[in-house]
Amino acid sequence: MSGMVSEEAMVVSVADIAEGMKRMVLRAPSIARSARPGQFVMVSTEAKDALLARPLGVSGADPADGSVTLRFAVVGKGTGWLAGRRKGDTVRIYGPLGHGFTTGAKDCILVGGGTGLAPLFFLKEAIEREGGKALLLAGAKDRMCLMESDVLEVGCIVATEDGSMGELGLVTGPLKRLIAERRFDMVYACGPVPMLKAVKQVCAKAGLSLEVSLETRMGCGVGACNGCTCDQAEKDGAWLKVCKDGPVFRAEEVLR
Ligand SMILES: Cc1cc2nc3c(=O)[nH]c(=O)nc-3n(C[C@H](O)[C@H](O)[C@H](O)COP(=O)(O)OP(=O)(O)OC[C@H]3O[C@@H](n4cnc5c(N)ncnc54)[C@H](O)[C@@H]3O)c2cc1C
Ligand code: FES
Repeated sequence: MSGMVSEEAMVVSVADIAEGMKRMVLRAPSIARSARPGQFVMVSTEAKDALLARPLGVSGADPADGSVTLRFAVVGKGTGWLAGRRKGDTVRIYGPLGHGFTTGAKDCILVGGGTGLAPLFFLKEAIEREGGKALLLAGAKDRMCLMESDVLEVGCIVATEDGSMGELGLVTGPLKRLIAERRFDMVYACGPVPMLKAVKQVCAKAGLSLEVSLETRMGCGVGACNGCTCDQAEKDGAWLKVCKDGPVFRAEEVLR
């Protein structure tokens, strides 16, 4: 939690990036300076009956212009309220929170499913800035619900369940093929639990290191309420806190 700040962030832009999904750029210089890929912010909303702040992964951060990018699906009260903000409005956010991804590996695969793609845009940028290679594999039900499909068309591998974009089927298809073709140093994944479990199996079989980011409901985001424990993450008989011990874990620690 060190380095966590609360900022009144100004909305710089809001854009549609898929059916029911938004990209929001906020001006939040302190968070932009310290956020690492895989960390998240808590967004305080003024939505009726949504007292708790909502967690969203940092999907981009630029210390030079002080911007923080969020990419999110509009699923309920909190994200609905956020999606209604306009350029010039302010939003209170606090963060960056949690443990992010470990970077430093040279040749990496990033596997994202659904909204799990959001933090991987930031991770890809960071790996490439550090001189590594990052191949992004994106999975979705169909093209309409794939965030930033235009961006993903170039230099990424896409798999959709109905074949409306990229390869037909699950994202584990191209993952298996790539791993069989050549050696990679590291895999990172974020998305629904069944996808993460499948990716874990593929990586374990190939002897590849894997880090996964888990998403649970959260109360406080800072380790104080036990609202984020989940049966996917347990250590020595005790539940791990996704907000504080994660949200990024080594795959062997979680996903039983
Ligand atoms: C560390 C972390 C990072 C996240 N990053 C992103 C991100 O980058 N982009 C993004 O789109 N979402 C992300 N999420 C999920 C996001 O927090 C929820 O979608 C959001 O809190 C829903 O709030 P709401 O008030 O709109 O929905 P609510 O009104 O609270 O609920 C609406 C529906 O969504 C379901 N729901 C709510 N929260 C979650 C959740 N955490 N997981 C699964 N289902 C949920 C509810 O069960 C309900 O069916 C992240 C979650 C975590 C824990
Ligand atoms: S959300 Fe409160 S302890 Fe994790």
